[in-house]
Amino acid sequence: MALGTSDVDLYESEDPMWNPALLTIPIPGIRKMVNLASSLEDVIHLSIGQPDLPAPKNVVDAAVEALQAGQTGYTMDAGLPELLDSLATYYGDRYQRELTADNILVTTGATEAIYLALTAVAAPGRHFIVPDPAFMLYAPLIRMNGGEVTEIPTRAENNHQLDPQEVIDAIEPHTHAIVLNSPSNPTGTLYPKETLEAILEEAAYRGIHVISDEVYDHLVYDGKEYPSVLSCCSDLDHVMVVSSFSKTYSMAGMRIGWLIASQAAIKKLRRYHMFTTTVANTPFQWAGVAALRGGSEFTDHMLAEYTRRRDRLVELVEQTPHLTGYKPEGAFYLFPSLPEGVNGTNVALRLLKETGVCTIPGETFGNSCNNALRLSYSTSLDKIEEAFERIIPWMAKQDFG
Ligand SMILES: Cc1ncc(COP(=O)(O)O)c(C=O)c1O
Repeated sequence: MALGTSDVDLYESEDPMWNPALLTIPIPGIRKMVNLASSLEDVIHLSIGQPDLPAPKNVVDAAVEALQAGQTGYTMDAGLPELLDSLATYYGDRYQRELTADNILVTTGATEAIYLALTAVAAPGRHFIVPDPAFMLYAPLIRMNGGEVTEIPTRAENNHQLDPQEVIDAIEPHTHAIVLNSPSNPTGTLYPKETLEAILEEAAYRGIHVISDEVYDHLVYDGKEYPSVLSCCSDLDHVMVVSSFSKTYSMAGMRIGWLIASQAAIKKLRRYHMFTTTVANTPFQWAGVAALRGGSEFTDHMLAEYTRRRDRLVELVEQTPHLTGYKPEGAFYLFPSLPEGVNGTNVALRLLKETGVCTIPGETFGNSCNNALRLSYSTSLDKIEEAFERIIPWMAKQDFG
C-alpha cells in the first residue's frame, strides 16, 4: 500500500487550485505510520492518541436519550445553555474563579477551539512562541495566517520541561501570543505552577496573549493538583483556555470542546464560530452535561489504570538500549530520545516493518526532536509488554554509532 501519497500530493502540490497557505500544513506523520501499519499483519499500536476505555455509560445514555427526545436541531451559537452553565460552575469550583456562561464558547472538539483562537489572532507581522515538540496544529495554523513562530525546544534529559526564562527571552516587540499545552502531547510533561505563573506574569505585563490547550487536564498522575492557566492568571484579559471531553471522558468521536476567555473575546469568537461550524452537535452537548454531572468514578478508574501503564512503560523504556526516557506526569504519552543525530523517522519505519510495533516519529511534533519517538500507553498493559518483547531485542541489535 502506498505511504499516504495522496496526502503528500495535496500538501506538496504546486497546483494553482490550492491556497499556497496549505503548504504550511506538514505531511501528517501520524497518518503515514498508521497507513503503513494497516497494510501489515500483527501490529501493536503504541501510536494511539485517544483513550482506549469506552465512554461512561451515563454519557452514552444521555446522548441516546437526547436523540430520542428529538434534540437534533441547532443549539444557541455559544452552545447549549445547560452545558455552558455546567461548565461555568465546574470550572468556577475547580479553580476558584468567577466564570459565567458568557466566558465560554462550546466548539466542535478542542480542535475547533484551537483553530478559532489561533486563526482569529495570527496575522502577518505578529510573532508567536510555541514549545517544541508540540501538538502539530499550533505552528501551521499560525503560519497559515501569516504569523511568525519561534519554537522553544525542550529535552528528554530535562523531562521536557519548558524553561520559562527561555520563553521570556524569546519575547520580541512584535510577539502577540504564547501557546502552552500542559500536560503535553507528545511529551506527557506537566508544567508546574511556577512555570505558568512566570510566563503569565510577563505576558500580562507586556500585553501578550497566552493560549493554553488543557485537553489533558484530568490525566494528571501521582495525586498532583493540576496547575491550570485559569488558576494562575490574574485576570482573563489576555488568556484563552481550550479543553474538551475527548480525553477526560473517552468522548473523542463525540467532538465537544470549548474555549474559555474574557466575555469580550467570547463575543468576538462567537461570530467567527458561526462562520466555521455554526454550532457544536446537539445530542453530544447533552452527553457532555451528563459527563460533568456524573462524578469522578470514571476519571478515577482511568487514572488508576493509566498510572499502572505509565509506571511499567517507564521501566521498559529504561531497559531498552539506545532510549533515554523520563517519568511523564500527565496525558498518556512518553517521548523518549534515541542518541543525538539518529533519524527517528527511519527508526520508527524500520521498527514497524521489522517488529510490527507502531510508534510516531518525533519530527511529527516539531523541529527539535528528530531523534525521538512518541509512545502512547493508551493500550492494555499486555500489549505494552508484548511491544517491548519485540522492541528491546531489536534495539539491542542496532548500532547507531
Ligand atoms: C494537545 C491536544 N490538543 C487538542 C487535541 C484535539 O482534541 P479534540 O479531539 O477535542 O479536538 C488533541 C488530540 O489528540 C491533543 O492531543
